[in-house]
Amino acid sequence: MKASAGTRETWGSSLGFILAAAGSAVGLGNIWKFPYITGLNGGGAFVLVYLLCITIIGLPVMLCELTLGRHTRRNPVGAFKALSPPSSTLAQLIGAILVFAGFILLCLSTWGWAVTMLLLGAAIFRYSWIVVGAMGVVAGFTILSFYSVVAGWTIGYIWKAVAGQLGFTTVAAAASHFVGFITHPGWAIGCHLVFMLLCMVIVVRGVQAGIERWSKILMPVLFILLVVLIIRGLTLPGAMAGVRFFLSPDFSKINADCILQALGHAFFTLSLGMGAIITYGSYVDKKQNIFLATLSIAGLDTLIALMAGLAIFPAVFAQGFEPGAGPGLVFQVLPTVFNQIPLGALWATLFFLLLMVAALTSGISLLEVVTAYFVDERGWSRSRATIVFGAVIFFLGCFSAVSVTGWERIEWLHRIILAVFGTARGSFFDVMDNLSSNWLLPLGGLFISLFVGWVWGPAKAVAEIRHGSHNFADVHLISLLAGLKDDPSHNSDVHVLTLASIWGFFIRFLSPVAVLVAFLYTIGWLQF
Ligand code: TRP
Repeated sequence: MKASAGTRETWGSSLGFILAAAGSAVGLGNIWKFPYITGLNGGGAFVLVYLLCITIIGLPVMLCELTLGRHTRRNPVGAFKALSPPSSTLAQLIGAILVFAGFILLCLSTWGWAVTMLLLGAAIFRYSWIVVGAMGVVAGFTILSFYSVVAGWTIGYIWKAVAGQLGFTTVAAAASHFVGFITHPGWAIGCHLVFMLLCMVIVVRGVQAGIERWSKILMPVLFILLVVLIIRGLTLPGAMAGVRFFLSPDFSKINADCILQALGHAFFTLSLGMGAIITYGSYVDKKQNIFLATLSIAGLDTLIALMAGLAIFPAVFAQGFEPGAGPGLVFQVLPTVFNQIPLGALWATLFFLLLMVAALTSGISLLEVVTAYFVDERGWSRSRATIVFGAVIFFLGCFSAVSVTGWERIEWLHRIILAVFGTARGSFFDVMDNLSSNWLLPLGGLFISLFVGWVWGPAKAVAEIRHGSHNFADVHLISLLAGLKDDPSHNSDVHVLTLASIWGFFIRFLSPVAVLVAFLYTIGWLQF
C-alpha cells in the first residue's frame, strides 16, 4: 500500500491488492478446515454443494463487500453508518421479525436464544444497518479466538518437524502423537500465544509493507508445495479410492446440517460476512477492476482448497486413515506422507511453516477489522486497540485451546452454556466455530446483500463498480462472452442482460433466499 498526501492509503498495485485479499482468503480454511469437514460430510457431494454456495452466494456477496468498501473508504461500521438512510423500513421489518421470533422462542422456553434474538432485534431498531458492521466485529473476535489455536498447532508442528519428531510409520502413532500434543495445555496455550503475538506485532505496525511483500513470495511457494504433495499422494498405492471419495458425489450423504456447513464454509473461506473484505476494499483505488478482482480472489481460493483436498484424500485412503477423523486430519495424514519422501523432515518443516504464514495473513485480517473499528470509530490509538483486543481474543481462545477434544477441563462453562442455550454440540472449540462460521457469517452476508440490493441500491453500487470495469455494466453479456463487445452491431444502446443485471438479481433475490432457506431448513422450520 502507499499513502498519498491527505487521502486514504491505497494498495501498491492491483496485483498487490489481489494477493493481499487472497492472502486473507487462503488460510487454514482451505488447507485444514475444508478437507476435514469434507471428510466428516461424506466427500464429493459436499464439495459440490460448497462450490455451488461459492458461485451463487460467495461471489455476489464478495462484490458487495468490495464495492461498499471502495465507495465509503471506511471500516465496516463506518461504511454502514455512511450509507444507512435515517430510517430504513427493511431494517425495521427485520428487527420486528427478530423480536417476534424472540417471543416465540421465549414461549418455547429456550431463553438463551430468545434473549439473543430480542437483543439483536432491539439493536436493529435502534442502530439500523450499523448492527451489521458491529456483528462483523463480534465475528472477528470469535473466529480469531479458535483460529489462533489451530494456527498454534502449525507452530508446534514446525518445531516438531525441525526436531525430527514427525517420522510416523503408522496411522495410530500419528493420531496419538497429535492428540497428546493438542491436549497438553502448555503446548496448546503456548503456541496459541505465540501466534496471537505475531498477529499483534504485525497489526500494530500496520499491515502494509511486510505482509503485502511476504504474500507475494510465499503464496506461490505454498502452491508449488501442494503440487508436490498431490503428485506424491496420487502415486501411493490405493490412492484412487481417495480421489473417488473427494470427487464423485453421493447425494444420499447430503442433509440439512451438511448444507449449512457448506454455506458457512463458503463464507469462511472467502473471508466474507464480517467486513474483512469491506476493509480491504476501502484501500482499493478507483482505477481497479473490482469485478475481475472478485473472480480472481475467489478463483485462487477455490483452487487452493481443491488442491488441498487432492493432496490429502488420496493419502488418507492409501494409508488407511479415516476421512472423518475431524480437526486433526491434516496434522495426522501429511506427516506420514512426508515420511515417505526423501528429505521428509525438510518438506514437513517447509509445509507447516507455509501453513503458518497462510494462517498469519488471514489472522491479521481478522484482527485488523477489530482494530480498525476501535481506531476509526472510538478514537483509540492503533497500538492500544491491538494490544487490548489481542489480549481479550487470546484469553477467549484459551478456552478453545483446552477443550478441542472435550469439556473435561471447563465443565463449569459447559454447564452454563447448556443452561442458557439448551445445547452445546461438540466441544467449546466446535461451539465457537459453529456459532461464527455457520451463523454469524451467513447472517452477515445475508444482511450485506439485502443492504446493497434493497437499501443502498444496485444502481449506485453499479455506478461504483463501473469505475475500472466498463464491461460489467455496459456490454451485453452474450456479446461479452462471444468476444464481440467491440463490434458495433453487437453493442447496441439497450443492454438488458449484462453482468450487472445478473448480479443485481442475485443480490436482491437469489443469495438472500438461498441463505434464508438454509437457515430455516437447519432450525427445522422448513422441511422438504
Ligand atoms: N478465510 C480465511 C481462511 O480460509 C479465514 C479468515 C480470514 C476469515 N479473515 C476472515 C474468515 C474473515 C471469515 C471472515 O483461513
